Amino acid sequence: MELIEAIKARHSVRTYLNKPIETAKAATLRAAIERINQDNGLNIQLVLDEPKAFNGLFITTYGQFSGVKNYLVVAAPKGKEWEEKVGYYGEELVILAQSLGLNTCWAGLTYKKIPGTFTLREGDIVHCLIALGYGTIPGVQHPQKPMERFYESDGLPPEWFRKGMEAALLAPTAVNQQKFKFILHPSNVVETKTFFSPWGYTRIDLGIAKYHFEIGAGKENFTWKI
Ligand SMILES: Cc1cc2nc3c(=O)[nH]c(=O)nc-3n(C[C@H](O)[C@H](O)[C@H](O)COP(=O)(O)O)c2cc1C
Repeated sequence: MELIEAIKARHSVRTYLNKPIETAKAATLRAAIERINQDNGLNIQLVLDEPKAFNGLFITTYGQFSGVKNYLVVAAPKGKEWEEKVGYYGEELVILAQSLGLNTCWAGLTYKKIPGTFTLREGDIVHCLIALGYGTIPGVQHPQKPMERFYESDGLPPEWFRKGMEAALLAPTAVNQQKFKFILHPSNVVETKTFFSPWGYTRIDLGIAKYHFEIGAGKENFTWKI
């Protein structure tokens, strides 16, 4: 499956079948996790067959999970710049999982940390968990808002930029908050901004949206403003 197809097919799934992740798929995920951790200083871990992290959460309106037995623990040092990396590389793994036929859901709020299932290095915190497995449903597309609200450009932006925006607007964000903006500058330089949210998670959301934008726009068409 092309990455853009996986981006379009991905939706948050919170109810899972009692079906294990095959050994070969788990190995593919582990290899990607190892590469990402080594290259970027993250400490992402795959936890299989552990039913407690998403079980018995007393939240009525948001984050009702059932049947979650597999998940990623997205651990990394604390801090803004790490949060963007957490989002970017966590989403790379989400899209890989989707292309392997698995469903996912990011969780920043509605999970429990189960001691003994993961390890932290000094200075690490758990930023999020990502539920993984075979969903009972493929999930539903979150409502789309007009793209124009999420970018600034001098005149009509080029096709590659619009495709990047389309992919960014399909990105998962905490409570679907989408507190980001993409700004097109001359010479195909793209700047990003985040806005305040009482929920937080806006830097993680931005990293996720930037991963989507790169897939939609094509990395060769632009450079990020540092
Ligand atoms: C950083 C982050 C944290 C999230 N935390 C939770 C959570 O704690 N519980 C939950 O049920 N969903 C959580 N979500 C999933 C969002 O609610 C979901 O991505 C959003 O509503 C958009 O829907 P979609 O993923 O189906 O496109 C989180 C998503 C992100 C990106």
